[in-house]
Amino acid sequence: MCGIVGYVGPRQAAPILLEGLARLEYRGYDSAGIALVTAGGEMFVEKRAGKLQNLRTALLEDGTPSAAIGLAHTRWATHGRPNDMNAHPHTDCSGQITVIHNGIIENFKELRDDLLARGHTLSSDTDTEALAHLIEEAYEGDIADATRAALRQAHGAYAVAVMHAGEPKRLVGARMNVPLIVGIGEGENFLASDVAAVLAHTRKVIFLEEGDVADIDAGGVIVTGIDGSPRERVVTQIDWSIEKAEKGGYEHFMLKEMHEQPEAILAAITGRVHDSTIELHELEPLAARLREVERVEFVACGTANYASAVGAYVFQDWLHIPARWNIGSEFRYSPPPLDAKTLVVAVTQSGETADTIAPTRYARAQGCPIIAITNTVGSAITREADAVLFLQAGPEIAVVATKTFATQVTTLILLAAAMAKLRGRLPRERELQLVNELRALPDKAARALVMAEPAKELARRYVNSRGFMFVGRGVTYPVALEGALKLKEVSYVHAEGYAAGELKHGPISLLDAEVPLVAIATRSSVQGKLISNVMEGRARDARVLAVATEGDDVIREYADDILWVPESIEELSPILAAIPLQLFAYHTAVARGTDVDQPRNLAKSVTVE
Ligand code: G6P
Repeated sequence: MCGIVGYVGPRQAAPILLEGLARLEYRGYDSAGIALVTAGGEMFVEKRAGKLQNLRTALLEDGTPSAAIGLAHTRWATHGRPNDMNAHPHTDCSGQITVIHNGIIENFKELRDDLLARGHTLSSDTDTEALAHLIEEAYEGDIADATRAALRQAHGAYAVAVMHAGEPKRLVGARMNVPLIVGIGEGENFLASDVAAVLAHTRKVIFLEEGDVADIDAGGVIVTGIDGSPRERVVTQIDWSIEKAEKGGYEHFMLKEMHEQPEAILAAITGRVHDSTIELHELEPLAARLREVERVEFVACGTANYASAVGAYVFQDWLHIPARWNIGSEFRYSPPPLDAKTLVVAVTQSGETADTIAPTRYARAQGCPIIAITNTVGSAITREADAVLFLQAGPEIAVVATKTFATQVTTLILLAAAMAKLRGRLPRERELQLVNELRALPDKAARALVMAEPAKELARRYVNSRGFMFVGRGVTYPVALEGALKLKEVSYVHAEGYAAGELKHGPISLLDAEVPLVAIATRSSVQGKLISNVMEGRARDARVLAVATEGDDVIREYADDILWVPESIEELSPILAAIPLQLFAYHTAVARGTDVDQPRNLAKSVTVE
């Protein structure tokens, strides 16, 4: 996944583009580049491997020309090493056309071979460069026409932005399965992968749809299909502000976003949890089908997958039908039998993860009802679903997910409750209890953040451990997986998440005084069993760090260190139990000096399979 930003208008383009890139750097940071058409009609290109700062330094050293139009890119490498040569923008043989791209051109090998055979000189290993040369071949004085013609030959997923030095007032953007928006300003317009890149300038955006080509100048936008046929697109007003996408005094976005969890959970239940009832109006059009559902399949990746795992436990328990959580990339190519009575729930923060979209699209083609749970209005997954539940968590900028785990689990519990209600399986007293528990959840999350203050000290104490083994049972098993994932992602320390009962069937051999056991031991129906498993590890010299329910003093007998969380019903306990583990991972990363908000090799959402 990569970040794209483009500008055309009366102002200096370079500072606007660099600021936009800074907001998109979470999408990838292997390299960054910029192209400007100067006032004199020259194409200027600068690009550098590494983070955006390297590009800024190069621009300072080499000088930045005056230009009122340009495009810029931040890269997460898919084809070719992350070096200067493979950084975007890419140009054609004449150097007049520049292209930036997010996604993968699947037939790029054939395209490249054909282009080389036709005498083009390609200087990078990327799939993107082929597009620049295809546009060059198709160019007859209209860059939008040439882009459409080139894209008709390309297969795959892309968001592209294109410019021609000879048409210095025109930007072209196109999208196919990869996000791209147009920001509508006053006498100026923008192109970007994400709203965050343009929010400092406008809150009016057009979410482009699959196969859209946007022909943009300072005064307006014309949207067509790849075949040139006109398309109507509405302008959406964004209701979150730039402050929401900034650090607001916290050292890192991850820290800020962990602390936003109470507010985010409140937003997720707002309009859904009332004084005494739970209502999901989004499900109304699907109600009849949801009553008929005989099976539920969750598809998701990474953190969203672990949130789905909690969902699967709760669905199965409350609805008494089989519910499974599936890794998106596995589900797509080895799907179970699917039919109109199989509900598929796709969970994805970004709404753009290719490994989640592909199985959802497949399931839709099999006639399954689809519900999407996402944080991102206008994202690709929303177009694959019969009903969409937005997390309403606000922008999450840190690459690792924190507040979206909390809100995904919250939303899944709401969905399970609403479906149980639809199917006559939510007794009134159960609904009332849930309402009370959900309404208390934001405050409990705030308390969990305060109570987890010792996580910082513990992170320092455990920082030299050789590895960590996280264990949970039942609904806390996914928390063990998520806790281990957080630690791996941000601190680069090896951690495994295991079902506690499995410890004795293999991974126990890893335990010793240098590999602590992190036990998610909050009060639950299987807490006793989990404690037995923890004792097996402790007997092998492993230190035990437990996450436990406030007041549950029995845990003191079994753990060396304890991170307390407030009491809640078992189904909601994963939300609270994840909080100290996020803090533990964060402080371990800080102690080890890693790049917390942009860990190496990762990207916030991955739009390739
Ligand atoms: C990437 C991120 C993970 C995230 C996963 C799924 O791999 O690094 O943090 O959990 O994608 O993202 P999604 O947007 O689909 O929730």
